[in-house]
Amino acid sequence: MIKNDLFLKALKGETVQRPPVWMMRQAGRYLPEFMAIREKYDFFTRCRTPELASEITVQPIHRYGMDAAILFSDILVIPQAMNIEVEMKPNFGPYLPNPIRTQSDVDRVVVPDVTVELDYVYQAIKATKELLNNEVPLIGFAGSPWTILCYCVQGQGSKTFDKAKEFCFTNPMAAHLLLQKITDTTIAYLKEKVKAGCDVVQIFDSWGGMLSPTDYQTFSWQYINQIIEALKDDAPVIAFAKGCWFALPEMAKSNASALGVDWTCSPENARYLTGGNITLQGNFDPARLLSPPSEIKKMVHQMIDAFGKDKYIVNLGHGILPNIPLDNAKAFIDAVKEYNA
Ligand code: CP3
Repeated sequence: MIKNDLFLKALKGETVQRPPVWMMRQAGRYLPEFMAIREKYDFFTRCRTPELASEITVQPIHRYGMDAAILFSDILVIPQAMNIEVEMKPNFGPYLPNPIRTQSDVDRVVVPDVTVELDYVYQAIKATKELLNNEVPLIGFAGSPWTILCYCVQGQGSKTFDKAKEFCFTNPMAAHLLLQKITDTTIAYLKEKVKAGCDVVQIFDSWGGMLSPTDYQTFSWQYINQIIEALKDDAPVIAFAKGCWFALPEMAKSNASALGVDWTCSPENARYLTGGNITLQGNFDPARLLSPPSEIKKMVHQMIDAFGKDKYIVNLGHGILPNIPLDNAKAFIDAVKEYNA
């Protein structure tokens, strides 16, 4: 049904002419047509207005022709729906005025009816599917429970997420209760996103790398795995855990359709750690898009050769940076389309 099914094929592990390509955080951030919308509407208005969210989602597809679209939204719509106030401050990022610090704070967190609280997301998905006209698949996403806890407890971004870790290590009972509430909400939410039209879902564990390998299993991976198990019959699931190459062997045993890899792990090592059978996604250093276009193209071809063209999705190792020149982003996408095995 979807005209360009390269991405879906790679997720199934099928042989392809060339690997599919998309870029994490491709919707928003660096495109002038996005900046024009951003000048007029604040962040959550853009998320909550289906006409705006769908328009922003298709902008990069129209400009560059990636093989998949990712819905314009944010991982922090989940805590908002759970009765936790979240603001997006310009030039600062997420700000949660009442961070969670105690058991009674956790008790006040609700597991909402996601069909009601997050209805605007499903409306945005339906509007986006109309605009996409079945050209390419649509990715829906959520943060991992640990990454969501990081913001809920810390109250803002952080280089260390020290308060989030302190909460987990001094009050593990309350932390696990919160993680489970987030997990239950996320499962229901992602199922609704698939029902509304998302073809694939990705879980972003942006702050997994803050944890030691042992703590990663305890506070992050077991909850991500619950989500994968709950979603596996609904849609392919991609698990991206930044800074977590150490967890790849465990992750490869799961029912995820693909695993994301950041740029600190070589393609060879990622294949070795995952046993060579599961589809991998990544892992171009986002800052390398600052190199001249000819160099970007050479490096992309080397990256595809190193991962192998099958069971592979070309992507960045984390989100695209806001200061990437338009021609450099184009070189990244074009390099993949020009690839000949
Ligand atoms: O491809 C896309 O951009 C789709 C939409 C998308 C956004 N956020 C829009 C956004 C996605 C997939 C996200 C995920 C997200 N949000 C993550 C996980 C991925 C990652 O980058 O690690 C995280 C940790 C967040 C939380 C968040 N939202 C932060 C830290 C910030 C501020 C800094 C930043 O990334 O720009 C946001 C705001 C945000 N989310 C913006 C956009 C386009 C920028 C603010 C704005 O447009 O006004």
